Amino acid sequence: ALIDKGNHRHFMQKEIFEQPVVVAQTLGSYLRPLAGEVALPIPEFDFADIRRVTIVACGTSFYAGMVAKYWFERFARVPVDIDVASEFRYREPVLEEGGLALFISQSGETADTLAALRHARAAGQKIAVVVNVPTSSMAREADLLLPTHAGPEIGVASTKAFTCQLAVLAALAANFARVKGRLTPDEEQAIVRHLAEAPAAMNAALAHDEEIEALAPLVARARDVLYLGRGPDYPMALEGALKLKEISYIHAEGYAAGEMKHGPIALIDEDVPVIVIAPSGPLFDKTVSNMQEVQARGGKVVLISDAAGIMAAGEGTIATIEMPEVHPLIAPLVYAIPVQLLAYHVAVAKGTDVDQPRNLAKSVTVE
Ligand code: G6P
Repeated sequence: ALIDKGNHRHFMQKEIFEQPVVVAQTLGSYLRPLAGEVALPIPEFDFADIRRVTIVACGTSFYAGMVAKYWFERFARVPVDIDVASEFRYREPVLEEGGLALFISQSGETADTLAALRHARAAGQKIAVVVNVPTSSMAREADLLLPTHAGPEIGVASTKAFTCQLAVLAALAANFARVKGRLTPDEEQAIVRHLAEAPAAMNAALAHDEEIEALAPLVARARDVLYLGRGPDYPMALEGALKLKEISYIHAEGYAAGEMKHGPIALIDEDVPVIVIAPSGPLFDKTVSNMQEVQARGGKVVLISDAAGIMAAGEGTIATIEMPEVHPLIAPLVYAIPVQLLAYHVAVAKGTDVDQPRNLAKSVTVE
């Protein structure tokens, strides 16, 4: 099929805007919304026997894995170990029989991840793969193939593949929880309902495109940018920082909001924009108090939250981006959008090559 940018200026922009559709498409093969059930495309596999999950990936796919760790532990109470592929292979990980090793990759060809997969197989792990290219090496070598249906991703910086990975991982977490006896049918139905609401919420997030574009000059001027989040929004902070680095070449760091006082707070002054990712929920107050520590030091805070969160956070931010009110489970899928759009518009403002950033490759097939 011919792939073009349609009405968009860049592939990355097109791929950001495609997310509600491709996430819906992906969820469609993992959920039965009418029955209120999660239905993985691998019914014969018995997750009840899995005692530990080891997640391995690189780049943006690694951050999807970090979000999944919170979900697997929280919903299924299954212990999760996670590492980047280049570290995993060489640290002599202890892999016991009965473990599931889960590899996440857009391309299915990343050399480090593929080598880690083979290492895990040799160590007797069941191999599950969340992958966007169904004909890839990782897809071929999987025991359990969990495809994302993002369609071809052309922009080097991953966007739609990431949110589709999150969709698959959320369904997998729910499935795990069910087989581990940790979900009543009602709870499962509620999870399926929340997931099915994700595409509409992502559309609502995309409606803030122009507002985010208006913030771009402020961030484009900065030398350093800090992203803060807690819980599953901590990997979202890491992903936000990675996106900005990749395409705008601005130094950015993602930090666990509560860890900021152990170092990065020393960097805060009026020249450092701080992007705070904080949907309202159980961790909100903690993140807001970290945010106030930044404000007290003159930091310029951009708060990404929902109406209730923005109201509760009060004055003192330089900008807010209002996301729809969503269940915490789907917040990472929705909050991915403003961080992607911010990186995109900052890169456009700086005039960098958005789809082909310098020094980066779409698929890294060398170690
Ligand atoms: C490269 C790409 C990233 C991607 C990473 C992992 O660095 O530029 O966008 O996240 O590889 O790729 P994978 O195909 O394994 O997800």
